[in-house]
Amino acid sequence: MARKPGVLAAPLAAPAVSGSESFANDVIAGLSASPKRIPPKYFYDSEGSRLFEEITRTPEYYPTRSEHEILRMQARAMVQHFPTGAALVEFGSGACIKVRFLLDAARKLKAYVPVDIAGDFLNTEAATLRNSYPNLAILPVVADFMKPFALPDVVADLPKIGFFPGSTIGNFEPHEAASFLRHAGTILGAGAVMVVGVDLVKDEAVLNAAYNDAAGVTARFNLNVLRRINRELGGNFKLDAFEHHAFYNRDRKRIEMHLASRARQRGTVAGASFEFRAGETIHTENSYKYSPQSFAALARGAGWTLLDSWTDAKGNFAVCALGQP
Ligand code: SAH
Ligand code: AVI
Repeated sequence: MARKPGVLAAPLAAPAVSGSESFANDVIAGLSASPKRIPPKYFYDSEGSRLFEEITRTPEYYPTRSEHEILRMQARAMVQHFPTGAALVEFGSGACIKVRFLLDAARKLKAYVPVDIAGDFLNTEAATLRNSYPNLAILPVVADFMKPFALPDVVADLPKIGFFPGSTIGNFEPHEAASFLRHAGTILGAGAVMVVGVDLVKDEAVLNAAYNDAAGVTARFNLNVLRRINRELGGNFKLDAFEHHAFYNRDRKRIEMHLASRARQRGTVAGASFEFRAGETIHTENSYKYSPQSFAALARGAGWTLLDSWTDAKGNFAVCALGQP
């Protein structure tokens, strides 16, 4: 199929494996590794996406409220960096809530392209957004944003703005975050601007509480990946045989989430069997915390310059506008 130049991030190879095959391959590879791990992108089936939204409403999870404060106060300053008639591409759009601050402030956007791996959730949230912005072209793309994917042809000739809120960039290893920023630069094209939300290093008690909420929502979010494996990959994990562990690793400046086996046990996935010692964990997520300086250095190393940055009143969170030199 002919495509307009600049729309495709990289030549698309014929898909080698289906989504469920790569889920099975990644889980089997991760549980065969030592220490055991599961990539965090698999949290987000529809229930995982719903649970993430529930986390954002817990009193302990400050990042969403902090970023909303910044967007509410600074959206007009952010959109000064936007070219007119641009397409806004959001990576990992989830419930498409934060983008409303930018859409309200930037009246002259031509299109909004939310990109997310959780297809059903994405399409439902995009439909809700269309009710609020009937004159805006809202063009959801279901994709893994770490891999090459195509933007809709109709935005090919428009200038692009990237939006990556929530500190989802913190869920990458720093070298992956740099690769992602380079990859996003390719997708968006020369001259693009990118607005990125970054969670900041802070008091450890605040960090630990945010990932161990008293109502246990984060624990349910973490355990949901096993429920998803049971349902989609024919797994036989007993959810009550694992428990949620989350703690701040000061040396690596990251929250780590794990699922710890309560006892010696065995679990099977897609016909493969895995042995767990009592206390052994599956590492399910890292959430790196940056300083404004360390994030600016990371972005610089990935070919972006810091145009502007804003924090909330408590200095919990930063939103950075990046441009290409
Ligand atoms: N941007 C929203 C949601 C953050 S939750 C906010 O700031 O509140 C992280 C989102 O990224 C989820 O919606 C999840 O489905 C999506 N996501 C995670 N890994 C992804 C990947 N590899 N490709 C595409 N989307 C991904
Ligand atoms: C999406 N991401 C930035 C969240 C975070 O804070 O790392 C996911 C999350 N995990 C546990 N709580 C929230």
